[in-house]
Amino acid sequence: MSCRLNAIVAVCDDWGIGLGGGMVVENRDDMRHFVECTTGHAVLMGRRTLESFPGGRPLRNRRNVVLTRDASFSRDGVETVHTLEEALEAVSGEEEAWVIGGGEVYRQLLPRCARAVVTKNHCVRAVDTRFPNLDEDPSWTVEEVRAGGVTPEGVPFDFVTYVRTGA
Ligand SMILES: NC(=O)c1ccc[n+]([C@@H]2O[C@H](COP(=O)([O-])OP(=O)(O)OC[C@H]3O[C@@H](n4cnc5c(N)ncnc54)[C@H](OP(=O)(O)O)[C@@H]3O)[C@@H](O)[C@H]2O)c1
Repeated sequence: MSCRLNAIVAVCDDWGIGLGGGMVVENRDDMRHFVECTTGHAVLMGRRTLESFPGGRPLRNRRNVVLTRDASFSRDGVETVHTLEEALEAVSGEEEAWVIGGGEVYRQLLPRCARAVVTKNHCVRAVDTRFPNLDEDPSWTVEEVRAGGVTPEGVPFDFVTYVRTGA
């Protein structure tokens, strides 16, 4: 497979990413950053993440590849796949593709990713979904830290890029 797979995620300090099917920190700058990174590329997501978008609609200007075990699932503008292998096959012709969540899909596809682009919101919130802690995983190394700013509700954030350096 020649496609370079990247993960993109917004985490809290404890790597929490979601609660009750939604995000936990409102951060417009992060949203803009997400759009800049992913527009024009394929995005790979779990069915629950698709449902979390407004109206359950796919993201514009991107190929939306959605994993589900439900053989009858279909949605306009969505390419449905039923296994990880099918998901990887679907993006194999792309130069790069982005894994955009959620927790279940990150866990399964992170081992296939070369890079993880992480927005770190410096706060801790109630969550039911987490991203693996890359700071405790020796196969990941920080490549770049860029100061993001502070959200209107006062949460400082950074953009941190991790690269896979180990097995
Ligand atoms: N902070 C962030 O950056 C960020 C990003 C994305 C999502 N989130 C949050 O994460 C949460 C959603 O994550 P989640 O873990 O609940 O769900 P998810 O990973 O988005 O989706 C899980 C669903 O994907 C399908 N699936 C997963 N693995 C599969 C496989 N190997 N083969 C076939 N289908 C597979 C299943 O769909 P079926 O049930 O249809 O079979 C499964 O229920 C929400 O709170 C969302 O807001 C946060």
